[in-house]
Amino acid sequence: MKYLRHLTISFLVSVFSIIARADEGMWLPLFLQQLNEKQMKTMGMKISAKDIYNINGGSLKDAIVSFGGFCTGEVISNKGLVLTNHHCGFDAVQNHSTLDHNYIKDGFWAKNNSEELPNSGLFVTFIVRIEDASSQVLRGVTAQMTESERQSTIDKNIAELQKGVKKESYQESFVRSFFEGNQYFLFVTETYRDVRLVGAPPAAIGNFGKDTDNWMWPRHTGDFSMFRIYAGKDNKPADYSPDNVPYTPKRSLSISMSGMKEGDFTMVFGFPGRTNQYLHSAAVEQIMTVNDPAKIAIREKALGVIDGFMRKDEQIKIQYAAKYASIQNAYKKWQGEVLGLTSTNAVGKKKAYEAIFNQRVNANPALKDKYGSLPGDLESAYGELKPYGYARDYYLEITSKIELLTIAGWINSLKTAFDKDGETGYQKRLKQIKTALAGLYEEYSPVVDEKLFEVLMKMYTENQDEVYQSPFLRDRLKIAGNDYAALASGLYNSVDLDDKNATLAMLEKPSSEVLAYYKNNAAIKLYTDLVNTYNQSVTKNLNQIQARINKLNRTYMQAQMEVMKEKKFYPDANSTLRITYGNVKGYAPRDAVKYDFYTYLDGVMDKYKPGDYEFDVPEKLRSLYKSKDFGPYGTNGKMPVCFIAMNHTTGGNSGSPALDARGNLVGLNFDRVWEGTMSDINYDPSICRNIMVDIRYVLFIVDKFAGAGHLVKEMKLVYGPAGK
Ligand code: ARG
Ligand code: ASP
Repeated sequence: MKYLRHLTISFLVSVFSIIARADEGMWLPLFLQQLNEKQMKTMGMKISAKDIYNINGGSLKDAIVSFGGFCTGEVISNKGLVLTNHHCGFDAVQNHSTLDHNYIKDGFWAKNNSEELPNSGLFVTFIVRIEDASSQVLRGVTAQMTESERQSTIDKNIAELQKGVKKESYQESFVRSFFEGNQYFLFVTETYRDVRLVGAPPAAIGNFGKDTDNWMWPRHTGDFSMFRIYAGKDNKPADYSPDNVPYTPKRSLSISMSGMKEGDFTMVFGFPGRTNQYLHSAAVEQIMTVNDPAKIAIREKALGVIDGFMRKDEQIKIQYAAKYASIQNAYKKWQGEVLGLTSTNAVGKKKAYEAIFNQRVNANPALKDKYGSLPGDLESAYGELKPYGYARDYYLEITSKIELLTIAGWINSLKTAFDKDGETGYQKRLKQIKTALAGLYEEYSPVVDEKLFEVLMKMYTENQDEVYQSPFLRDRLKIAGNDYAALASGLYNSVDLDDKNATLAMLEKPSSEVLAYYKNNAAIKLYTDLVNTYNQSVTKNLNQIQARINKLNRTYMQAQMEVMKEKKFYPDANSTLRITYGNVKGYAPRDAVKYDFYTYLDGVMDKYKPGDYEFDVPEKLRSLYKSKDFGPYGTNGKMPVCFIAMNHTTGGNSGSPALDARGNLVGLNFDRVWEGTMSDINYDPSICRNIMVDIRYVLFIVDKFAGAGHLVKEMKLVYGPAGK
């Protein structure tokens, strides 16, 4: 008996540890009170769920914006000042930079409103309210429907629902699917389209450590930039106009000057992009062993090529910097993901969870009837997906890295447009292409591209089954005597698409001449053959299997919510507003290695390499460090820089505010630690940490380094420990 009881307890403990983790989750703000408030308070929160999200009165959510749809930002003054990451505002900084005014290198600070720089296309979106729309959207949907019948019923319901949404004329609304299509929510939003650049530190601070430090802890990056929202004179959204005025927000965040201690409560409020938390173990295993490794291998080769040229050639270094960083970002993330999934035995843990699920389902005839076949069906569907998923990754990763193919695709679309809509269609498309091409050629070197073609096409032909390979490519390879360098130079020498001037000049000619000129272009032929081969050998099967998997995942999601009742479910990230919370904490990634939770300016100086591309430190920052001139922002003679906590975040959470127990701004989220990037698939409290820049470092850089103290004067600073 005693033994039995012991066994039950240990079983329960292990079930508990598989099912419930305090720090995991990206929660919907409207359910905070119901699902999370109690736990948040236990963990140290001193405000209520209503202070965070309340549609009937002011709450913190009124200070949070989706920044351009890809990052998060927050309002930090009653004059519409917005804080986000340097890497989120980078495009704006880059667009305003010239050789004479190099804001990337030197930073930029507007001394007054009139110097703030407009950014066409940039917007910020506030969430006015969120409503559960599941019952309306799913009205009339039955289990017997085919997927397309289901979708058309849903589309009709959404259209109907949208017509009746109560909102102001300047507001928008949209509906999103949650929990794999088991639930739907309506969002009413307000989008401001005049967002101006206020300031950014030099890249040597805003992107200190660049690719070497990206995804890494300990980190020393001041990854922030500032913008201002402008509105019409009525404070409502308006297109850019010199007459617009700084926006008066419903709410702006107060800023805590107190910093964080280990164990302190913190939450991150923002717009996480995409996660996959409820996948079957078969899917996780496939990501780890098939998809991630394939994509990593391709990017490794591509990065090797680009890096080789960047090191030798200053011009190429400038042209390829942004491209290199973006290829490298996911490359490094996937490596961390595989490492973390492996080291935390994610597949084993998923299997243990599935064993409990299966046991419960099989013990109950009604559940068994509904869900008994799910695990087997999922496993076989993922088994079938495997070759097509691999072929998809190969095709997409390789073709997107070879820009000659992108150019060929665009030129080819002129013909498609002409065939479909005649001269009008052609001219419309031509306009888009000219802009796109001008942008592409700015950051393009034919030599680099040719080498990428040589190296990546070798992978394309050698690492996948012949049925997935373009016959046109294989023929040309044979003609080139199976020599990939000859294949590449043969192609690049026979076309002039890689020549900016020739191509742009050609496009000025009448459509008939242009279409005739490119009719037999080898790069365009290769492009179309690659696309056709892919469509025939992959797309059709892939889409069918994927549709089956989507349906199975929807049922599996519903089943988990029904069967694993003790688990609190949060929906996967889908770029909608979420809140995540946890405590400030270091971590131990490997045997004998333990990381502290804070970094200081001392660490910046430790990493300092004069003149280095990644680790140079501006002279002014060095001298402030030397004289310990930290103003009111330092603490005990030191200047805090970054800290980590257990908040569950993902891409899109960049720029999100890190808030303390009182809801005051203490930091700016910008990254995660490398060992824990698998939190997108399986959050593990032992190694998953988000990285934030300390708000005091932000203020120190603005005030002491950049001399833009007038901005700090706009903000509301609060002193004293978070709990007081
Ligand atoms: N890892 C950060 C996030 O995923 C990006 C940081 C940008 N910096 C860089 N060196 N790429 O997006
Ligand atoms: N760096 C990411 C972003 O830009 C954040 C993350 O993936 O943790 O959104």
